[in-house]
Parts: sequence; structure tokens; C-alpha cells
Amino acid sequence: MKKSRRGRISSAFPNVRLRRLRTTPAIRDLLQETRLAASDLVTPIFVQEGIKKPQSIASMPDIRRLPLAGLVDEVEEVLKLDIKAVILFGLPAKKDELASSAFDKEGIVQKSISTIRKYFGDKVAIITDVCLCQYTTHGHCGLVTNRKVDNDRSIATLANIAVSHAQAGADIVAPSAMMDGQVQAIRKSLDQAGLPETAIMGYSAKQASPLYAPFRDAAHSTPEFGDRRTYQMPLSNAREAMREVETDIEEGVDIVMIKPAIPYLDLIYKTRQSTNSPICAYSVSGEYALIKAAALNGWADEDAVTTEFLTSIKRAGADIIISYQAKRMAQLLARH
Ligand code: PBG
Ligand code: ZN
Repeated sequence: MKKSRRGRISSAFPNVRLRRLRTTPAIRDLLQETRLAASDLVTPIFVQEGIKKPQSIASMPDIRRLPLAGLVDEVEEVLKLDIKAVILFGLPAKKDELASSAFDKEGIVQKSISTIRKYFGDKVAIITDVCLCQYTTHGHCGLVTNRKVDNDRSIATLANIAVSHAQAGADIVAPSAMMDGQVQAIRKSLDQAGLPETAIMGYSAKQASPLYAPFRDAAHSTPEFGDRRTYQMPLSNAREAMREVETDIEEGVDIVMIKPAIPYLDLIYKTRQSTNSPICAYSVSGEYALIKAAALNGWADEDAVTTEFLTSIKRAGADIIISYQAKRMAQLLARH
């Protein structure tokens, strides 16, 4: 045995050869540190009021807006793949200044929730996006007073929406408006409405990212004036992102979210180091579109790149991943 100068067995080459543990697929499998599972994944569903057939979305190939009548088949397919959760996004037939269709008992999301619950019981976790932008004529995530997004009026509306989703049977409500105090307002309203078991997943550190563009195309939610930078995060600020995470936890959030995922792996990692709360990472529409575009051109192997991206997100510390590739990834996992 080769000894080092101080007499100990050397922990360097040639005693140490890291390639020994990479020699066969079986050994590599045995030592795999991070493993994706279908049960880590959440699949987004767009459901649109008043349409008869699924509609394709130009910037998101393979993703469609579904009619209410298409929902049961979709969830059936998702469950067959061992995915346990969906996140619902509604596209209402009518928009107004107050986002009234967002908290309507007969609204598209409320109907979707009760339909899924009726057919599948507790087999699927129903998460709902809670925001105003798809429901307001101006397309902002909050209510607008004098052309400004009015934080404190907005959180009351967000709380109404969350309660209406919970009453329809949602398991987890996910406020994405980035209004201050939104988690606290929702928690208080849920509890007052006798819904203490409904969980809150906060879009805690949601960046003002250009990677949401395909989503806005899909969900008809582009703001009519200005942009979202007075409420979404400046993408250069990691400490500020941690304050967003901390305030959500203080307000009683059950799961924190970092979004987008791939450009913000540092924030996922930092959050993992600083809290024991469950972490969700949202790999957004633009991340999907980039992979898809390259794949459709034959410039990238879609399955391999998707596996790499999703594994990286999990390795950084995410417990849950929302991905438009969830179904594809689950299919892939089932084959291996
Ligand atoms: C609505 C919302 C958005 C996303 C999730 N919820 C868009 C936005 O903030 O403009 C983005 C999701 C994606 O890009 O996949 N507030
Ligand atoms: Zn919004």
C-alpha cells in the first residue's frame, strides 16, 4: 500500500480511482444519488370555458387548452402514469376589472375541481393557481387603482378566489400574484371559512422572467399596459428572493416555490440550505419551449435533455417539480 509522506494511506491517485464506480450500468445505478420519480411531478392543465375541442398553443407544441369535457380523460392518463398531482389554470369566457369570474362558484376552475374530485376522489392531488391575470381585462395579477396594482385590495380578492377553490374541493391553493401578504390573507380566510386543512403553496420567489411568454400566449394573460416588475422579483437578487421565502413561511405557507427552475437552481439550493419547508420548483413554459424548439429541429435529444434538466432541479433540492414535460418524463421512467 502506498503511504503518503506523513505515513497515512494516500487518499489520492492511484489508490483513489473514481472511475471504478462507473464501470458498469449496474454499479452506476447502485450509486445514483438523485432519482426522479413520477410522484415528484406535477402536470399543468389549461382548461378553457366555452370551447368544444382541445386547442393547440403555437409556442407550446404538444400542450393544449382543454374543454371541461376533456378533463376526465386527461386526469385518467396522468394517473395511469403514476403522476399524483395536477395544477389547474383557468381561462374564463368573460374578463372584467374585478376578476369576478375567478371567484365565481360556477367558474371554470371551480367546475374543473369538482369534476375531477367527483371522478377520481382523493387519488389525485388538486392544486390550483390563484391569480387575477387571466380574469382581468387589463391582465395584471392584482386589482388596478389609478393604473397601479393595488396590493391590499388585491389580497382580499386572492383570498376569495382561494376559498372558492377550496370549497370546490382543491387540496392545495397556489397564489401566484406576488402580492405582499397574500399567504397570510389566504390562510386567514381559509381558516375562517372552516377550511383549515387546505394547504397553501406559495409562488414565493417568482422572477419577472421572459420565460413566461409562452404561458401568456396559452392563458391569454399578457398585461395590457406596463409589465409585472412592480410585483415579480428582479432576477438579479438572491437575498431578496430569500426574504420572499422567509416572509411566506412566516405567513404560514405549507410549500414554497421557486420559479422559473433552471436559471434559478442557486435559489433552490439556498432555500434547501436555509429551511426545512418543502420546496416546489416550477419549470416554466419558456424552459419547455426552448427544449421543444431544439428537439423539433433535431438539435437536441428531448428525452435526454429533459432528464438532465429535471434531475438538476431535484439535485439542487426541490421536492416537487411542476413541468410541462411531466407526462413525457413519467413515461420514460416507466420504461426504465
Ligand atoms: C399567473 C402565472 C404565470 C405563470 C404561472 N402563473 C404567468 C405570469 O406570471 O405572467 C407562468 C407559468 C409558465 O410560464 O409556465 N400569474
Ligand atoms: Zn398572475
